[in-house]
Amino acid sequence: MPATEQPTTPTTPAAPLLGLGDEDRRTASRLLAGFLDRYERSVATAPIVPRVDRDALSELLTTPFPDEGIGVEGLFREIDEKILPNSTTVAHPRFLAYVQGPPNGIAPYAEAIAAAINQNCNFWQLSPAASVVERAVVSWLAGLFGYPATGGGILTSGGSIASLNALTTALHERRPDFRERGLQASGPPLVLYTSAEAHRCIDKAAAILGLGLDNVRRIPTDGEHRMRTDALAEAIRADRAAGREPFCVVATAGTVMSGAIDPIGPVADLCEREGLWLHVDGAYGGLFVLADRRRAALDACWRADSIALDPHKLLFAPLEAGCLLVRDRTRLARAYAFKSAYLTVEEDPLMVDYMDYGPQLSRGFKALKVWSALQAFGVGTYRAVVDHVLRLADHLGQRVEADPNLELMAPVTLTAVCFRMKGATEAEHTAALATLADEGTALLGPALLDGRHGLRACITNYRTGHADIDLVADRVGELARQLRRG
Ligand SMILES: Cc1ncc(COP(=O)(O)O)c(C=O)c1O
Repeated sequence: MPATEQPTTPTTPAAPLLGLGDEDRRTASRLLAGFLDRYERSVATAPIVPRVDRDALSELLTTPFPDEGIGVEGLFREIDEKILPNSTTVAHPRFLAYVQGPPNGIAPYAEAIAAAINQNCNFWQLSPAASVVERAVVSWLAGLFGYPATGGGILTSGGSIASLNALTTALHERRPDFRERGLQASGPPLVLYTSAEAHRCIDKAAAILGLGLDNVRRIPTDGEHRMRTDALAEAIRADRAAGREPFCVVATAGTVMSGAIDPIGPVADLCEREGLWLHVDGAYGGLFVLADRRRAALDACWRADSIALDPHKLLFAPLEAGCLLVRDRTRLARAYAFKSAYLTVEEDPLMVDYMDYGPQLSRGFKALKVWSALQAFGVGTYRAVVDHVLRLADHLGQRVEADPNLELMAPVTLTAVCFRMKGATEAEHTAALATLADEGTALLGPALLDGRHGLRACITNYRTGHADIDLVADRVGELARQLRRG
């Protein structure tokens, strides 16, 4: 935007230097509305994976920022010509890789409002309504798991950070002098337990916290990729016998590869007997609590000391939106609350000062996009969407089982379907993934379970329909048939 000169008359004030004048605002609104409308209409036919224009991207990297701005229209042109064509269409109905959903429809508007009012969700005086909105979202999530009134939590950037924050809280609980003395304090090595199928973010958290990967036990899983409670008990016994100090178990509600749900009830029994913090990594699977058909497997989550969730997955909030829930929110404050002279905070029973619940001071208004979608669509719509993606995953599982050239690699517990072309090698599966992506059929991911390679379709997409699943099943079946024919 060209720098605006000082107003010439008091009745027609010019925009401040980094603001938009009336005309520019109208233009920006029109262009944004047009962009969102075109984007919405194009997602089903856009390339899932962009043919990356390296020249355009190099130009983005090397072109100096202009001294005099290119203005609103120029900016939207740059976005249309360079950013959009080189972006992955995660909203495409056959984007079935990883665990990533498309943003819900109201999200772009909620994000714009959050940016406009720019609440700092650190302490409530800077963001009173935002504090209550975040509290409402967190309370609703805590309620889904039956947490008691002592429960609470905080929105985070994602599941990895939610688990990092949970393990930090667990450490403070185990070693009350952790804040002052850190891990330098003498004491036996602390040991963390999780399953062989747990997400890497647990290792990452253990490394960041200084626990050391040598003190992370990867417990073997059963035939359905769930943590074996007998092996967990044995590992805890062995560590105690060797003079180490078990302190925390991370159970997974929905492993990233196959969606397996660890036996949370029996693990909770063990943690109770052993006096260990139980954290549930529910980043992928926790929110399937919304589905009647899966709730039973998640029933015991209320017994966990903490639960990590990802509203940017199953609540279809745009990135970034994770959530940490704790059964006793005073534990969060014990780990994270610091007093400082430059922040004058008055306590108010209605408000939460989220800076006391996590490592960040300045925090954006993430809760608005989650809250807005819950308000606009209603919880019932979410239940229907979750049920829809579960049914599609079951359908894909049935299609695989019905095809003599394909086989399932794991039971379909949630929406991750791991399957393989019978007799195919890792390279052949990799080639099939590339074919499916290149021809625009679908983006799937690689599967690796029990040392065997295959394909993974994760249906975390409310736009996906039966016809999309059939198209993928037909095409993979054909590729498998071709391979067998040689
Ligand atoms: C089980 C599990 N835990 C943690 C994560 C990491 O979550 P995020 O990418 O939000 O940090 C994922 C992501 O897929 C996951 O599936």
